This record gives sequence, structure tokens and C-alpha cells, in this order.
Amino acid sequence: MSIWCVANQKGGVGKTTTAVALASLVAAEGKRVLAIDLDPHASLSHWLGGGNGPEPRGTADLFAAAPPAVAGLLRPGGASNLDVLPAQAALATVERQGIGRQGMGLVLSRALAEVAPAYDTLILDCPPTLGLLMVSALAASDLLIAPTQTEPLAMHGLSGLLRTAQMIERSRNRALPIRIVPTLYDRRTRAAQDTLTALRQAHGDLVWEEEIPVDTRLREASRADVAIPVAHAPSRGVVAYARLLTWLRSTPFPEEKAA
Ligand SMILES: Nc1ncnc2c1ncn2[C@@H]1O[C@H](COP(=O)(O)OP(=O)(O)OP(=O)(O)O)[C@@H](O)[C@H]1O
Ligand SMILES: [Mg+2]
Repeated sequence: MSIWCVANQKGGVGKTTTAVALASLVAAEGKRVLAIDLDPHASLSHWLGGGNGPEPRGTADLFAAAPPAVAGLLRPGGASNLDVLPAQAALATVERQGIGRQGMGLVLSRALAEVAPAYDTLILDCPPTLGLLMVSALAASDLLIAPTQTEPLAMHGLSGLLRTAQMIERSRNRALPIRIVPTLYDRRTRAAQDTLTALRQAHGDLVWEEEIPVDTRLREASRADVAIPVAHAPSRGVVAYARLLTWLRSTPFPEEKAA
């Protein structure tokens, strides 16, 4: 069982698309997946079979003084083997008011421990804010996946995220490996190529050696909240995500073995 956190404090870089694509691919292998939505906008919850209405219960409830059992908050994710722990708008209040309250950073670690044994992979989709929700997600995770858009300004947010991940490693005394995933890559543009080069220069082996391309079919699936076709005629974006999945599961980097 592994818990993966998809995070980057920059908005619109492909976090939710990455979480949904990886969750769909793992579930299509016949392995049980739980996708956890931590964004008050609830994009992942809508995408994975949530319909249009707000979900009555979900991740926001976990931050209450007396949280309910996690198993009662789960619902099917619109594909075999895929469950969702949905988000509510109330997460925005949790983010604002939870900072400084004792033990809030460990809420998700404790909550997910209840249900994690039933799954092969748990994937957390974070909001684009470096706050309590993201810290709580990182603290619960075995791996940080940081989608980074291949456009000039997108790299700047990364350093804050990497510093936070290091802080969490120190406080829990357990490694939090990081994988940086170049997204929305358009190889025809010079800006995208230059950003990719700069990203690899700055972060070396942490950066996937391939890229997730701009893929209209992925964008259409997310706009229409329909399942990503992973089994038949996968689009080039899905093919790239399948290769990313293989990389994410490959041997840890040498420096992480020592951590
Ligand atoms: N590979 C891709 N090809 C084309 N469009 C994409 C791709 N990845 C993401 N998009 C589109 O880019 C937009 C932002 O993607 P997404 O919602 O996954 O980002 P996000 O980082 O989760 O955003 P937010 O910070 O708002 O939560 C969406 O319209 C999505 O459909
Ligand atoms: Mg998102």
C-alpha cells in the first residue's frame, strides 16, 4: 500500500488531472484505489462520478473535533476498483481556521490509517495553497508528486513546496521522496523547452525524464467530468501518464535509500 500526494501551490498546473489519470490507470490494473480530494473546489470529486451537487460529507469532516469514521465518507469513483473521499467547500474554512490548532497536521495520517489497508494506492489531490491541508497531506504520504507546468513562471513556486517537504521529513523522521512531473508540455514552444531545461538543471534526478504533453482529449475529459479512457485507444496524455506510473514505481533514488 502506498499513499501519494499530488501537490504544487501553483494553480492550474495539472494536479487534479495527474491525480485522476494515475488513479484511473492503477484501478484499471485491477488494484484498489482511493482518490482523496482536499480542494474546496472539489474538482476531483466532480470528475470522478460526483455529479453536480455539493457532496454532503467528506474530507472537511475529518478535521472536526470529533471526526466520523472514514469508511462512512467514501463513495464509488465511477470505475471499478476506484473509490473517492470527496471534498466540500467547507475545506476553505478548515484551511483558514485550522492553522495553529494542536495536532491538525496529523489529521489525515490518523484518518487514512483506518482505511489504507484496504487499498493498493491512495492518491491525495491538494489545493493550490501551501497551508494546513497540504501539510496534513504531505505528512500522511509516502511520495510527493509535484506536477509543474512547463512555462517560465511555474518553477518559482516549487522551492516553497520542496522546503515544506523537507520540514515534514525532519519532523516525522521518515523520508518523503519527491517526483517532479513536467506537465502541459508543448514542444513547439521555445518557452516550454527552456523551462524544461531550467527545471532539470535546478532539480536533476527529481524531475521525470519525460513530459506530460498538452492533450485535448484529457482537457475535454476534465471539462465534461467524464472518465479518462485508459483501457481502449488511450490518448497521448494517457500513454504518458502510464509511463509516469512505471517511473513512480521504479527503484528509489540512491539518496532516498539513505534517508
Ligand atoms: N495534459 C494536459 N493537456 C491539456 N489540458 C490539460 C492537461 N493537464 C491539465 N489540463 C487542463 O488544464 C487545466 C488545469 O488542470 P488541473 O485542473 O488538472 O490543474 P490543477 O493544478 O489541479 O488546478 P487547481 O490548482 O485549480 O486545482 C484544466 O482545464 C485541465 O483540463
Ligand atoms: Mg486541482
